Amino acid sequence: MGGALGALFVKAGHPVMFSSRHPENLKELTTRLGPLAQAGTVEQAVAFGDVIVMVVPYAALEEIGKTHGRNLAAKPLVLDICNPIARRDGADVVKWVDEQGGAGLASVKLLQGARIVRAFNGISYRRVGEIAHRPGGLVGVPIAGDDPKAIALAEGIIRGIGFEPVLVGGLAMGKHLRPGTPLAEEHTPAEIRQIAAGLR
Ligand SMILES: NC(=O)c1ccc[n+]([C@@H]2O[C@H](COP(=O)([O-])OP(=O)(O)OC[C@H]3O[C@@H](n4cnc5c(N)ncnc54)[C@H](OP(=O)(O)O)[C@@H]3O)[C@@H](O)[C@H]2O)c1
Repeated sequence: MGGALGALFVKAGHPVMFSSRHPENLKELTTRLGPLAQAGTVEQAVAFGDVIVMVVPYAALEEIGKTHGRNLAAKPLVLDICNPIARRDGADVVKWVDEQGGAGLASVKLLQGARIVRAFNGISYRRVGEIAHRPGGLVGVPIAGDDPKAIALAEGIIRGIGFEPVLVGGLAMGKHLRPGTPLAEEHTPAEIRQIAAGLR
């Protein structure tokens, strides 16, 4: 998913550093995307980005928060694409996230002080590239966040890559932004507003 979203950011003119614990494996991706794309370690990418797009297994967030939390908290926006999934992250992680009130509030605990906005959690990596800039009406992206400046920044960036952001509420509403909920998959902005109005 990070590769698919990063490709859209590059297309929109943003310099992007893709991170990996093995950045040498990203050579094919960055070569394909051209001079705006480069690869680095997680530490290098955290230092590089004005905005951080967090696209890792949910279970990795704890360690990332411990190692990079201070630097992440200094960023104006951390876009949280991560979902807790039992088969990948473990049932205990999913249970813990539920106990915190869902992925939005749980991410705040793991990345303390970060200005988090959840986005793109319910759209597949297979689809995100091809539905960007959809002719005849942009696909809506439900977002949730608590920091007004981070939300405004996220909205601009999301529009820039060809989607219409729809704020559905604070991070407490982030629990609805994951696969398998009514807001998941592809909806028009009006549909998202209608679905979100019925959620608590
Ligand atoms: N796949 C989708 O369609 C989709 C859609 C919406 C949201 N999401 C969410 O996006 C996240 C990533 O999903 P994915 O399908 O893209 O997974 P993926 O293909 O397995 O990629 C995971 C990425 O996380 C990195 N990573 C793993 N553990 C890490 C750690 N401890 N520290 C730093 N980086 C680490 C990996 O980098 P390395 O090279 O270092 O291994 C890799 O770049 C998940 O939370 C998922 O629920 C996925």
